[in-house]
Amino acid sequence: MIELIQLDEVDSTNSYIKRHIAELSDGCAVTARLQTAGRGRHGHDWAADGGMLPLSILLADPPERDCLTARAGIAVCEVIERLCGVRASIKWPNDIIIGSHKVCGILCECMVFGDGARVIVGIGVNVSQDAAFFERAGLPHAASLLMAAGSAPSRDELASSIAENVIKRAAMTFSECYDEYRARLVNIGKTVKIISPDGETTATAIDIAENGFLVCRGENGVFTVGSGEVSVRGENGYI
Ligand code: BTN
Repeated sequence: MIELIQLDEVDSTNSYIKRHIAELSDGCAVTARLQTAGRGRHGHDWAADGGMLPLSILLADPPERDCLTARAGIAVCEVIERLCGVRASIKWPNDIIIGSHKVCGILCECMVFGDGARVIVGIGVNVSQDAAFFERAGLPHAASLLMAAGSAPSRDELASSIAENVIKRAAMTFSECYDEYRARLVNIGKTVKIISPDGETTATAIDIAENGFLVCRGENGVFTVGSGEVSVRGENGYI
């Protein structure tokens, strides 16, 4: 049984865990009715109203933590599928999508202590916002489960099921999850734009490496990219 701390309002559930790390047990999860200053990857804000479910899970020394977001992504897809009855896929490295819309993002943050590392797996699920919310936020590629799957599951059930499944997948190695991850990726075989602080490159995504890096073929040959370095977009849009 997961220890689920349910807050009314918080700046960021990831930041809450960081502030309270000394009092919190490993394996606990934190959620909130409203998150007011959520953080996304690459230093972006994570826009939300009360229709977004913020969830952060505290893990002690999970194996292969560089590939943890990928395993968490599979865990989220499995729960969405069970509760909403629609296929959920992954846009590399870890955007959870239904059709061509992002319904969930994942931000893992690591804290290293003398006795080992602790990782916060932060998951933002768009549960029940409407199209006007995403329009106002300037997020044309995002949608809620209600919009993309036609139903919004209970927030409590989503939070506890995702937390349980993330803990299960986090205990597995990436090689044990590799086939499942690859099968869910929408990028393989597609032309992608790889955006880094140094500029943009166009290439074809051809595979996933054993360490979770995206394997691409460009005009100068085959190369790999890691998720910390870049964003990947489709040739003409989000996917
Ligand atoms: C992304 O950029 O796609 C990742 C978004 C992660 C958002 C979640 S919401 C819960 C947790 N708390 C945060 O401040 N961020 C993560």
